Amino acid sequence: MNRFNGYHILSTDSFDKKSLLFLLDISQELKERLKSEGSLSLLKGKILATLFFEPSTRTRLSFETAMIRLGGQVITVEQGDSSSIKKGESLEDMSRVVSAYCDTIVMRHPEPYSVRKFSTNASVPVINAGDGTNQHPTQSLLDLFTIRSEKTKIDGLSIGFLGDLKNGRTVHSLIHILKKFDVTLTFISHNNLKLPETYIKNLTENGIKIKETENLEEAIKELDVLYVTRVQKERFTDESEYLKVKDKYHINNKLLTQAKKDLCILHPLPRLDEISTEVDTGPNAKYFNQAQNGLYIRMAILSLILGKYKKN
Ligand code: CP
Repeated sequence: MNRFNGYHILSTDSFDKKSLLFLLDISQELKERLKSEGSLSLLKGKILATLFFEPSTRTRLSFETAMIRLGGQVITVEQGDSSSIKKGESLEDMSRVVSAYCDTIVMRHPEPYSVRKFSTNASVPVINAGDGTNQHPTQSLLDLFTIRSEKTKIDGLSIGFLGDLKNGRTVHSLIHILKKFDVTLTFISHNNLKLPETYIKNLTENGIKIKETENLEEAIKELDVLYVTRVQKERFTDESEYLKVKDKYHINNKLLTQAKKDLCILHPLPRLDEISTEVDTGPNAKYFNQAQNGLYIRMAILSLILGKYKKN
């Protein structure tokens, strides 16, 4: 059954395990159909609006490609500031207006919960493409898809998160998904960039085994998956605070001699120098596959929320 039909995708909190696995299966099926058929026509006649008030390469382009590969069309505001928001229009008014032009909306905005606020006046499904430090749900869905594709399972894995756990919205979203599975989570960060206490409390209440450490060399030995994140410079108000923490961790081939041979390294990208480019050609680097998987997850989401998914 399609539980996504007509629904907004605003956070990962609301997904149950069954819906998550259903979505992964549809994504896998659409990936295979796209490979064999080149393009599909499930969304012929439908229009996606993309509204981005923060920069993006992967999220915007993969959503737009997904819509076009499914036979639909795209209208876009490439930089939110080129819209009438610049003249003082409220997000609520913009939402009413854009809803009248399209069948679904993908939006990114720097303010936490702004996409939820926007969705309250929308008459079409709204997808959160990142709201400040809060969440980036479709990134986490593609992360889950990648973990299952690379490790052939999710339950039983030991998964580490490295970097800016305080501000990284992809980490926050993925944690809410992983707490539905039987996993062990290790959080590795500078003391100033630790995962906020609310997430730790929530994981503990959900019975998830967690560890927190600053010691990457020790922690990496136990991991099946390492999810690396960039220190989010744009979230710092004081540059000196950013400079204190930005260079603490680097993944390189020497460090990987300490890791399991089949460690799966993920990164939502863009990266700065937290992963050396020498790692890219090795067997552990899965972050470019991960970015590609965004296309299949977003094809599945668009066809499901618009009620147009049909099995071949
Ligand atoms: N992972 C991700 O959100 O990338 P973009 O900022 O390029 O969309």
